[in-house]
Amino acid sequence: MSDKTHVTLNDSNSIPRLGLGVWKASDGNEVEAAVLAAIQAGYRLIDTAMVYQNERGVGNAIRKSGVDRSELFITTKLWNSDHGTDNVRPALEASLDRLGLDYIDLYLIHWPTPGRGLYIETWKELIKLQSEGLIKSIGVSNFQIEHLEELKKNTSAMPAVNQVELHPYFQQRELREYCKQNDIAVESWSPLGGSKASVLEDTVLTEIAKTHGKTQAQVVLRWHIQNDLIVIPKSTNAERIKQNFDVFDFDLTSQDMVQINKLNTDQRSGPNPDTMNLH
Ligand code: A2P
Repeated sequence: MSDKTHVTLNDSNSIPRLGLGVWKASDGNEVEAAVLAAIQAGYRLIDTAMVYQNERGVGNAIRKSGVDRSELFITTKLWNSDHGTDNVRPALEASLDRLGLDYIDLYLIHWPTPGRGLYIETWKELIKLQSEGLIKSIGVSNFQIEHLEELKKNTSAMPAVNQVELHPYFQQRELREYCKQNDIAVESWSPLGGSKASVLEDTVLTEIAKTHGKTQAQVVLRWHIQNDLIVIPKSTNAERIKQNFDVFDFDLTSQDMVQINKLNTDQRSGPNPDTMNLH
């Protein structure tokens, strides 16, 4: 079940549809200013990770914002070197400490790192920590169908969320269908195509943007929303942060959607989760 502004997860928790991603925002002033600008613009979902090394700045901004903790939805992620039963709790506690929080709304396994073979035991530990209340919702990131199938076969719960690279040039249709069948919400990282890709310069998007009086970024974010995805555009620019949240007052037509669907190239811009074993 979902409305436009929120998605109900398979554990009944509600996650905002659109949030701020802070990958590459440096700790301290940059991330703090971005998170504060986002919260002022109406964002309630902030997505960080241990490996981004900016959890302290995110925590400072949360406290400075004056918005009640219960109204915010904070995601962070377990880094690859912290896989393994005994490593998960200390990693979570260290993230909580850096953020200055006593619970995380959504904790994700950042990558499956299949070469190490530890993600199943890591997932079992997340299930345990969720039952203790340190985490409200648990999920994964960059999991392929085969990794999700392993969780299904070997553990007692499926992730609430799978956060993966997803944008008009890399649409992940098969994985999205699998997640739909298994009641896993899909969250798009690099939803605008990231800093390298030229998605926003695509002439198809430029034309659609003109007809709606919106920017290409707003059209792409709308495409995610109308595909029932959760979306976390990254920006450290206050104007663009505001612009990216201003996407709930128009609809793409079914013809717009079809045209954007045709842009898929099946080319990732980020690492392939099957071979990404960095830790
Ligand atoms: P900046 O932080 O300077 O705004 P993604 O979320 O797909 O990874 O994309 C992030 C990249 O897109 C960043 O380089 C970000 O730069 C840029 N970006 C974010 N929002 C917009 C926007 N509305 N228009 C153009 N570029 C944007």
